Amino acid sequence: MKVLGIYGSPRRGGNSELLLKEFLRGCTEAGAEVEEVFLRELKISPCLEIYACKEKGECPIQDDMKPLYPKLVDADLVVVASPIFFFAVSAHLKAMIDRCQALWARKYLLGQRVAPGRTERKGIFLAVGGATLGKIFDGPLLTMKYFFDALDRTFDRALLYKGVDEKGKIRQHPTAMAEAYALGKKMVGGNSECGMKNLTTEIAEHAEIKKVKDPGA
Ligand SMILES: Cc1cc2nc3c(=O)[nH]c(=O)nc-3n(C[C@H](O)[C@H](O)[C@H](O)COP(=O)(O)O)c2cc1C
Repeated sequence: MKVLGIYGSPRRGGNSELLLKEFLRGCTEAGAEVEEVFLRELKISPCLEIYACKEKGECPIQDDMKPLYPKLVDADLVVVASPIFFFAVSAHLKAMIDRCQALWARKYLLGQRVAPGRTERKGIFLAVGGATLGKIFDGPLLTMKYFFDALDRTFDRALLYKGVDEKGKIRQHPTAMAEAYALGKKMVGGNSECGMKNLTTEIAEHAEIKKVKDPGA
């Protein structure tokens, strides 16, 4: 099983990074082939609305997004981690997501399969915000829902943590690191030491996905 881990934070060793590392450790231990992509190390232009993708389902911009498209399509599991910035995902991550308009065009305008011949592929979202109150994940959850849809992936679940601000503070969270590890292991192997029953945060927050009012509906 191939797992692609995408780090969306500009901060090295930050909270979402620690969380994703732990998730991927679980995947590796369960036998997955893991690849990591740090968006802060790549040069990815924002979408320039050239609309060439409407014709071919491909983006003409030549930058670090080019080798990322096949990885986003091919991996059995794509797991994306982001800090919450102004109630949204990071700018690094949003630039990558917007460039996936080419895959959206392939699917919805050209009627092509994004990943022909492939069975179900999944997506996971990990996010961390400093605030203790407020609907800080509502916007990002909608964004991720439509991002994974453009990749023709099932948005399987999200692990979302509030009140985590200073670098490394996620380590002090009572359950976050264990939940990330357990979920990574479960997504690959179907089992985990913690088991699904203990993954209370992600179950609760996954329910929040369904509660989010969809402005596009
Ligand atoms: C530009 C910026 C905007 C932020 N906006 C929010 C916000 O809207 N809501 C929130 O809860 N935290 C916000 N934060 C706090 C970060 O989400 C928080 O520090 C998080 O732990 C950072 O994760 P990282 O270490 O993975 O980068 C913001 C931080 C920055 C730098």
